[in-house]
Amino acid sequence: MSPSWLELSLRAPTAALDTISNFLIERGSPGVVLKRNEIRAFFARPAKSAALKRDIQRFLRGIKGIYPGVREEPLRWTILKDRNWNHSWRRFFSPQKVGRCFCVTPPWIDPPRSRRRQVITIEPGMAFGTGTHPTTRCCLEFLEETAALLTQEPITALDVGTGSGILAIALAKLGASKVLALDTDPVALKAARVNVRHNRVGRAVRLSISRLGSVKETFTVVVANLTAETITSLASLLQEKVSAGGYLILSGILEQKAPEVLRRFSPHSFVLARRTVQRQWVTLLLKKRE
Ligand SMILES: C[S@@+](CC[C@H](N)C(=O)[O-])C[C@H]1O[C@@H](n2cnc3c(N)ncnc32)[C@H](O)[C@@H]1O
Repeated sequence: MSPSWLELSLRAPTAALDTISNFLIERGSPGVVLKRNEIRAFFARPAKSAALKRDIQRFLRGIKGIYPGVREEPLRWTILKDRNWNHSWRRFFSPQKVGRCFCVTPPWIDPPRSRRRQVITIEPGMAFGTGTHPTTRCCLEFLEETAALLTQEPITALDVGTGSGILAIALAKLGASKVLALDTDPVALKAARVNVRHNRVGRAVRLSISRLGSVKETFTVVVANLTAETITSLASLLQEKVSAGGYLILSGILEQKAPEVLRRFSPHSFVLARRTVQRQWVTLLLKKRE
């Protein structure tokens, strides 16, 4: 019997989209597509789909108090036959322009050639970082800006929490001669390896499961798209890894937690160069004093 898939479609308020998407991915969806206020998730059809449906409703019920407007009903479930799967899944992904330099595309689309934009090819659904999330997009924009400021010296970079590898790949495409990309999740590293190969940046990018504390070098650019809590716990290590005059990009920080994160980065060592907020996510660009 050919396997089939379940497609879930639901509507939710903007503030709740990321929380719900993360839950659906944790619950086994290999990819989630966001369009305005609609979330579509796909699940390999389990033998007991009632348990999956119940879990999702329970989760939505649980977050109603935090995100008014979330509803457990109606959830629209559709069975996709395997032969339709590629089309159903793939048609939602299209090349995305990011910032002034990049176009992020899935591997099955060859985007129109442009002299201004570098193409980053990412296989969707394998790890966080397909270029659609505001934190990834803001990091990409800050990386472009940082690279434009660092024209006088070679760029070396550290990407902490590389996920799909998207930021490490972008750094290599912006001219970084050496990029160390770390992740604690072996599944993410496997996805990043596939993407690094697709983008032919294997010479510059080294992927590693090593902990940040075991890294000895310093880098002209350090980027960490994690969570406020993880950044806070890694703050002193992150600061050490930035070379004098270098840049630190932090993202994955919910707006209300940003002041607490910033307090961990000493104003004697770092100047806040830029701060941006998109859909409640803050991204910070810090410059280390010379
Ligand atoms: C939000 S994703 C970011 C992915 C990608 N860099 C982007 O910007 O789209 C965070 C990634 O950090 C990884 N991670 C979480 N804690 C970590 C840590 N302490 N050290 C390294 N990686 C970590 C997770 O496994 C996940 O792949």
